[in-house]
Order: sequence, then structure tokens, then C-alpha cells
Amino acid sequence: MSSPGARRPAPRAEVALMAGYHSPQIDVAVRLNTNEAPEPPPAALLDELCGALAGVSLNRYPDREALELRAAVGAQHGVGAEHVYCANGSNEVLQAICLAYGGAGRSAAVFEPSYALHPHIARLTGMTVIEGARDEELLVDESELARVLTAGGRFGPADPAIVFLCSPNNPTGRAEPRDTVERVVASAPGLVVVDEAYGQFARWSASELLPDNPHLVVVRTFSKTWSLAGLRLGYAIADAEVVDALFRVTLPYHLDAVKQLAGRLALRHVDEMRERVARISAERERVVHALRALGLRPFPSDANFVLFEVTGHDAREVWRSLVRQSVLVRDVSGFPRLARCLRVTIGTAAEDDAFLAALGVALS
Ligand SMILES: Cc1ncc(COP(=O)(O)O)c(C=O)c1O
Repeated sequence: MSSPGARRPAPRAEVALMAGYHSPQIDVAVRLNTNEAPEPPPAALLDELCGALAGVSLNRYPDREALELRAAVGAQHGVGAEHVYCANGSNEVLQAICLAYGGAGRSAAVFEPSYALHPHIARLTGMTVIEGARDEELLVDESELARVLTAGGRFGPADPAIVFLCSPNNPTGRAEPRDTVERVVASAPGLVVVDEAYGQFARWSASELLPDNPHLVVVRTFSKTWSLAGLRLGYAIADAEVVDALFRVTLPYHLDAVKQLAGRLALRHVDEMRERVARISAERERVVHALRALGLRPFPSDANFVLFEVTGHDAREVWRSLVRQSVLVRDVSGFPRLARCLRVTIGTAAEDDAFLAALGVALS
């Protein structure tokens, strides 16, 4: 046999440059690094799903257009199924957006620090990325916005075909102010994608701007507020023509029948979801106070996680000490402007207490 890989082409240049995006999955007792919900979905939902599974015809392909699921999602937002696109997690939704509206010769704008997969997926589809910088308060300021949006020729590498915003912003925590999003929507030359993975924690949603703005796309997920990260289901709300374009880059039957069923059933439990969001928000404020009491600087959060600066300490060292104590948080010290920062997901009270105790040890 010839040496392994001898007749194999190298991956294309963009792929070779990709460092990949992976939050480490270390086996620890307390996992607070990927912003999942700390509680399982309602027991009643699991019962309903088990009962309904017998009715799924697994020998048949699923509904290729996932019409019932899309209608149920749309009903949550007061729109019809034609305004809803669903995929296997919101990352896959973002990928479909970049495949349909991005690609080689086009550019995407991001405002760092923000969700790392926006530029990552854009680059994977061959796009150039324009990196805007957030200001001292980690918000998008007007002059930086103007710089990023008006830098060059239409949709070329310097004129973004897609502008990504994240509200609430991961990893910083705050929802984008309404006037910022309105300004971006008013001045962007292409598509504006507002990633609302943590949207139910915020006081407002960019979906309010959808009726007047056919170039706006709002992306959401079942992974966080719905306690269903294991299901891998996300969606976009957008103009029907955008939804149509997203379907054109989607593989046939991409959403399996069990997922379509589970997603529909989950939406019947909206009250439990809202109660869970309220509980997590209250617990978040307890954690914020405790971080302050430890002499650290937590940033304001409208999400189920808190960014905090380990003032006077090396963030990587603190992260390592936490891992040694079997607590995993997200080390974001490599992100622009966040050199001394870590991000912790709000867990159960017991998990948060374990984290705070371990943090006390790490800082001592
Ligand atoms: C801002 C943001 N968007 C999207 C995602 C991806 O979520 P999903 O599980 O739906 O792919 C995450 C997950 O952490 C996120 O933080």
C-alpha cells in the first residue's frame, strides 16, 4: 500500500487555514462552558414525544419542507410558514445564509468580540471577513459602523453582502440596543442577520423590524432557552424570498421526522420556557453579585451567561485552576478586548455554588 494520503488532494486553501471552532468537551463535574440550559426539558414534553414516536413512519422520508414545524414556529412570531426556515441548529441556519448570500468574492461584516462562528462559517464559504471593533463598553459605535459599511465597492470584499449582529451578544452578554440595530438595518448595503440565540432573555427582538425590512433575517435556536441543545434545531424568520433562497442551498430531507415532531411538541410548552428563562435570569443576578463580592468585574448580561474580568489575575491560569477543580467555563481571553476575561454559563444553584467556591480557590 502507498503511504497514507499520497493520492489525496490537500484540503482547499481556506480549509487549511481554519483553526476550527471548538469549546473543549472536558469530562468535569460542573460544565458551564457552552450556554446550555441547566434543566432538562419538561417531563410532559418527553412523555408526549415518546407517545407520538410510534406514529412516525421511519421507512419514509420526512416532509422535505417541514411545513407543520415551520407553521408552528411561525405562529410564535405571528408569521406564516413561508417566513420560516428551519435547520439542524442555528449554526446550520447561518451556514445556509452564507451559502446563499455569501461565497467567494463577497464579504461579511462582524463586530468583535462576538460569536466566533459568524466569521468562521463566512470564511468556510469563501467570504472575506471585515472585522469591526466594539467600543470600550463592548457596543457597536456609530463611526465604526460607518467605517465597516461604507468601505468600498458593492458586495466586494470591502462592502458587506452580510452584516452579522448578535443580540444578546455572545460572549459579552448585552442585547444590542434597538437604535443600533435600526441604524444597521437602515444603512447596510446587503443582508442583516441578527443572531438571537438568547433572544428570550432580552427586552426586545429585532423580529419587530421584520415587516418593514425584507433584507433582515432573525435567527433563533432551540438549544438554549428551550433546553433542547441535544435536538439540534434552529430557525430563521425572514422575507419569503430569503427563505426560498435558503431552501435552494439545503440538501433534500435535511430535517429528520423525529426532530420535526419534537420541535412542534416543544412549542406547546412556551409557558415553561418563559418560567425557565425567568428562573435563570434571577440566578444570573445572584452569580453577578457573588462575582462582585470576589472583587471581579462582571459585565452586564441579558443572557444565560456572564462575562467577567478576573481583575489582577491571568485568565488562562484561573481557567486551568477551575478545570483542576472539575469546573469548566469558557476561556475567552483570546478574543479581542477580552484579555482578562472568562465566560460562565448560569447553571443550577448547586453548580453555580461549586463554580463560585472553585473560583474563590483559584483566586486565592
Ligand atoms: C450566538 C449563538 N448563535 C448560535 C449558536 C449555535 O447554536 P445551535 O446549537 O443552534 O447551533 C450559539 C451557541 O452557542 C450561539 O451562542
